[in-house]
Amino acid sequence: GLVNSREMFKKAMEGKYAIPAFNFNNMEQMQAIIGACVETKSPVILQVSSGARKYANQTLLRYMAQGAVEYAKELGCNIPICLHLDHGDTYELCVSCIEMGFSSVMIDGSALPYEENVALTKKVVEYAHKYDVTVEGELGVLAGIEDDVVAAASVYTSPDLVEDFVKKTGVDSLAISIGTSHGANKFKPEQCTRNADGILVPPPLRFDILEEIERRIPGFPIVLHGSSSVPQDQVAKINKYGGALKDAVGIPEEQLRKAATSAVCKINIDSDGRLAMTAAVREVFANKPAEFDPRKYLGPARDALKELYKHKTINVLGSANRV
Ligand code: G3H
Ligand code: 13P
Ligand code: ZN
Repeated sequence: GLVNSREMFKKAMEGKYAIPAFNFNNMEQMQAIIGACVETKSPVILQVSSGARKYANQTLLRYMAQGAVEYAKELGCNIPICLHLDHGDTYELCVSCIEMGFSSVMIDGSALPYEENVALTKKVVEYAHKYDVTVEGELGVLAGIEDDVVAAASVYTSPDLVEDFVKKTGVDSLAISIGTSHGANKFKPEQCTRNADGILVPPPLRFDILEEIERRIPGFPIVLHGSSSVPQDQVAKINKYGGALKDAVGIPEEQLRKAATSAVCKINIDSDGRLAMTAAVREVFANKPAEFDPRKYLGPARDALKELYKHKTINVLGSANRV
C-alpha cells in the first residue's frame, strides 16, 4: 500500500540522496512518474496540491495513487510510494486528506506569525500521528506565488527558529527557504547575470543558511520546494512552436545535486514537468495540425515527462537504484 515518508527520509539521509516529490493532476502525469521511478528503481512521493484537488477531485486522485501501487508492481518493481498533500493551508484540509487515505500531509503555515504557525502545525501533527501519517511543516517564505499565498520577496528561514519549531510541533520534516521559489520565473532578470550565450544565470542558493540549519537540528529531514531547473532547451522548444515564455529561469541542477547530499531529503519538482509536457504538445500541434486524438498529443507529453523524471532521479536527486 501507500507508505508515509518516515522510512524514505531515514534512508535518504543515510544514503545522501533526496526523494523526488512530483506533483500530479491527471493520469498521464501519474503514469510518467511511476514509469520513470520503476525503471530507475526510485522511491517516490506523489504530491497533490489544493489546485490539483480542485481540478481533478481528491477522491479520484487518492484512488489513482492507490492504483499506482498496483501499477508499479505490474511494471515490475514494488517501489515505495507516498501520497502527500502539497501546501495544505488549513487543519480541516489536512484532516480531510488523512481521512481519505493520504499517507503524508504538508501544513504550510509559513505565511502566519511564528507562534500561529507553531500552533497550527502542532495541531495537525497531533491528529496525523494518530493515523501514522507524516507531517511536513514550513518556516520561511519563498519568493513568488505559493498557491494562493503571494509572497513578494523571499524571507530566508531563520536558523535561530528551527530547533524550537521542530521541538514544539513534532513535525517529521521541515521545508525551508534558501532562495528557491515556485514557477518558471524564479528570479527577476535584474537579480541574475548573463553568461556568454546571453542565458540568465541566477544567484546561488544560500548553502550557508542550509548548513547552519543542519547544525541546529542534526539529522532532521529538510525539504526544498520550488526546485525546478527550467531547462533552457525546453523553454526554447516551447517558444519555437508558438509559445511566449520570457526570462524563464530556475535552480541549476548541480546546486540541487549538492543539496541532495545534505540533510535535504525531499525535493519538489512540478514546473519542469509542465514545461516538458507543454513543449511536447506544442511540437505535435505545430507539426501535425490535423491531429485531434488526445492520445496523440498527451502520449508524447507523457513520454517526455517520463524521460525528464528518469533524468531527475538518476542525475539530480541520486534516488535511482535505492529500491
Ligand atoms: O506549489 C506549487 C505546485 O507547483 C502546485 O501548483 O497549485 O498550480 O497545482 P498548483
Ligand atoms: P517548482 O515550481 O519549482 O516545480 O516547485 C514545485 C513545488 O515546490 C511544489 O510544492
Ligand atoms: Zn511548493
